[in-house]
Amino acid sequence: MIITIDGPAAAGKGTLASNLSKKYGYAYFDTGMVYRAVGLEMHLQNKDMTDEDSALKIAQNLTFEHMHELAKNPDFRSALGGKNASIVSAYPAVRAALLKMQQDFALHPVFADGTPAKGVVYDGRDTGTVVCPQAEVKFFITASPEVRAERRYKEFLQKGIKTSYEEVLADVKARDERDSNRATAPMKPAADAVIFDTSSLTIQEVTNKACEVIDAKKK
Ligand code: DC
Repeated sequence: MIITIDGPAAAGKGTLASNLSKKYGYAYFDTGMVYRAVGLEMHLQNKDMTDEDSALKIAQNLTFEHMHELAKNPDFRSALGGKNASIVSAYPAVRAALLKMQQDFALHPVFADGTPAKGVVYDGRDTGTVVCPQAEVKFFITASPEVRAERRYKEFLQKGIKTSYEEVLADVKARDERDSNRATAPMKPAADAVIFDTSSLTIQEVTNKACEVIDAKKK
């Protein structure tokens, strides 16, 4: 089974995807990682984020191994990492170069240790619309920008990253704007996606609702 979870930054996609992959024993592909990897590699090579040709070259040569190596860098998950990922992800050629890598994962999904899995949970912005339009179950998870900024701000504080709530809120809004309005594969719910607004739900409540949808589909 293929399950996709799309939605804006800090809506709770990652936690839901991880809960579902554990419950059903499915592999998990956080597709934001491919764009974060390209953005970080650009940064490490001192490239300007507007340099589309360099971003394309990096995307064309990206492997899973290199992506996981880059994920160890503190800037991979930082606010700057998210911003840079969002900028390079708006380039159509970069998206095209990274599409097959994401789609192929569903053909042979594997856990982190290489063991084969019987299904996969994707999370991202276009996984239900572009990466896996054939997915059996699709979710679109959202929440108000203020609630998402508050969650992300608390995460940063826990990690010891210095920032302010206002800065995080501005970043969340700027990313929403960029991710929703780009020409190629903009963030939007698939026509057949189940939409959850998690503003006033706990992650357990969201997980329970999602499991109901999946269990009904499996029957
Ligand atoms: O989910 P994330 O915060 O790690 O994603 C970082 C950026 O990558 C996001 O702002 C937009 C881009 N992205 C995308 O365009 N398509 C995806 N499927 C996943 C992420």
